[in-house]
Amino acid sequence: MDCEPVNEEPFITHDNLVFFAGRSVNLPREVAQDHRDQVNTLRDRLELHIDEHPGFSLVKMLHAGSVAKGTALKTVNDLDVAVYVRKDDAPTDEAELVGWMTERLREAYGKLINPDQIQPGTHCATITFKGSGLSVDVVPVLYEDDSDDCGYLVAKDTGERLLTSVRLHLRFVRARKNAHPDDYAQVVRFVKWWARQRKLADPTFKCKSFMVELLVAYLTDQGVDPTNYPLALEEIFGYIVKTGLAERIAFTDFYPASKLPSPTGAAIEIFDPVNPANNIASRYSTLERDRIVEAADEALGAITEARYATTKAQAVACWQVVLGPSFRG
Ligand SMILES: Nc1ncnc2c1ncn2[C@@H]1O[C@H](COP(=O)(O)OP(=O)(O)OP(=O)(O)O)[C@@H](O)[C@H]1O
Ligand SMILES: [Mg+2]
Repeated sequence: MDCEPVNEEPFITHDNLVFFAGRSVNLPREVAQDHRDQVNTLRDRLELHIDEHPGFSLVKMLHAGSVAKGTALKTVNDLDVAVYVRKDDAPTDEAELVGWMTERLREAYGKLINPDQIQPGTHCATITFKGSGLSVDVVPVLYEDDSDDCGYLVAKDTGERLLTSVRLHLRFVRARKNAHPDDYAQVVRFVKWWARQRKLADPTFKCKSFMVELLVAYLTDQGVDPTNYPLALEEIFGYIVKTGLAERIAFTDFYPASKLPSPTGAAIEIFDPVNPANNIASRYSTLERDRIVEAADEALGAITEARYATTKAQAVACWQVVLGPSFRG
């Protein structure tokens, strides 16, 4: 029996996704640089204050979020920085930590920023720049001079205290970026973009950026080729569907696998590359995991269908399932 001839070149290819990324997904290079410059100014001013006030309770600042890592989406509206706080100086009462840190930031930036531009939030302080409207979320890290900058990071979303090192996370990401220049970060941005579409459709959908980043790192480490974007996405969604996201994910960059705990019973186990006791997905329920798997299944089906589409309109409609209605091919 003859097989149906298949379109040799699908209507939507790698190049279409490159174009869409440039137009809609990626934070333009100049904007990212401008954001980084703003954070550098904050960091330099803090250093100056520290030089002038030896023993100040804030030790240093590290740009830790997606803009620092080169994985930010165009829609990013806040920058994440970690401020290392001397553990012995910080209030022992958790509820007082952010308010106390806000006061210290106001002291340090007195000459540069109005105090009302630095406000305490639930788990972080936020600095808002007047001109750009850009805001910088400052999360505290309780720190005791660890050489790898390990300390207790107060998670911005939950307030949980996590022993980790954002500096080593940056090194971890740098290694993947060196292995796959441009493509690792681009595939991370696509998957984050997909997750964002799902969240827009359903605000209860959860799939946090750090989880996406580690998942893409894990799969590229395992040999998934990130240089062809449609194929890479197909493989990533395929992995999620095949495993139901129930397979443990861990890395050996900073500790051997023998340090990992026995099964924790968590619905998703994706371990912090820096601390084997920190499952970064520990707060996801089985239901939340299954929602991710279901959405990945839908995306996988759409990508497969797109490959065999007989018209461009049909292929575009399929990709819109993955990348949202702004995708036009
Ligand atoms: N559960 C966690 N355990 C340890 N470190 C974490 C955890 N969550 C976040 N981090 C640290 O905070 C950084 C920022 O994480 P986040 O999930 O906000 O992603 P992001 O890269 O800034 O993405 P977005 O573009 O969505 O803001 C991570 O790179 C990591 O260093
Ligand atoms: Mg962020």
